Amino acid sequence: MTTTHDAVEQAAVDQSAPATAPLTTSPTAADSGASASASFRSTSQYSGDGAGSDTARVDALARALLGAVHQVISDHEVTYPEFQAAKKWLMDVGEGGEWPLFLDVFVEHAVEEVAARKQTGTVGTILGPYYLPDQVQLTTPATLPARPDEAGTPLAFRGQVTDTTGAPVPGAVLDIWQADEQGYYSGFAPDIPAGNLRGVVTADDQGHFEITTIQPAPYQVPTDGPTGALISAAGWHPWRPAHLHLLVSAPGYRTVTTQLYFAGGEYLDSDVAEAVKPELVLDPTDVGDGSREVTYNFVLERN
Ligand code: DHB
Ligand code: FE
Repeated sequence: MTTTHDAVEQAAVDQSAPATAPLTTSPTAADSGASASASFRSTSQYSGDGAGSDTARVDALARALLGAVHQVISDHEVTYPEFQAAKKWLMDVGEGGEWPLFLDVFVEHAVEEVAARKQTGTVGTILGPYYLPDQVQLTTPATLPARPDEAGTPLAFRGQVTDTTGAPVPGAVLDIWQADEQGYYSGFAPDIPAGNLRGVVTADDQGHFEITTIQPAPYQVPTDGPTGALISAAGWHPWRPAHLHLLVSAPGYRTVTTQLYFAGGEYLDSDVAEAVKPELVLDPTDVGDGSREVTYNFVLERN
């Protein structure tokens, strides 16, 4: 396992390497956590501004949540040292800015599953902590911004956006973001240019789109912070399968928040964030020139 110390030494080694070698400083939990916290606070659309403050609702939820905690303590005969360790851990998560990471990995899927009960159209899944608004606007056919030497298998991702009757949705917009071939997201890791592998792509007048990118790698929850400490103390693995994130929208339609995964990829059956759904697994075909292509169609429901 890579420790923070190893990562720092590795960065020092990389900096003395020839200028043509890519710099790969591993992001720390503190980097990712602080950036994810700042991003969450500045993105009001996703920051819960729509939640009411109905006293009966707060009473019911707070009472049920605390009751569940009390029940765990009673059932598992939690001791004072364990209670104090939990208190310290909760403080560490807050001080490290890791609440967005922790909650999106371990809790968001349950909220999404409740929301999904009332939805039709393309299946959704979690947003996660790494969405950034206001990325470069592109028109189909589009290539996501990438470094000149961006590693990874090129992927042509095509499809059509229709409504629930199958009619094309002209000018639908696909806001797409993904990790690179090392599993890192721009904006949340050092050394990746702002906006890398992120873009807002407008489809054509028939809802058709074509986006050229690279296949992402699996994502690892940072292991050097308190979320990572819990994962390793519990003997779990910290991985999510490789995925593309998408917000698919058009005026008059409910925005679909989803992710697309890759058939045969690692961790599909053991996603730490429990956010894989079978309808969302792509199976790209090899084109023969080292690149791959895949078609996926989106269905939007009217507001
Ligand atoms: C987390 C990271 C992701 O890339 C994702 O899609 C969901 C959750 C996280 O670290 O919380
Ligand atoms: Fe992700």
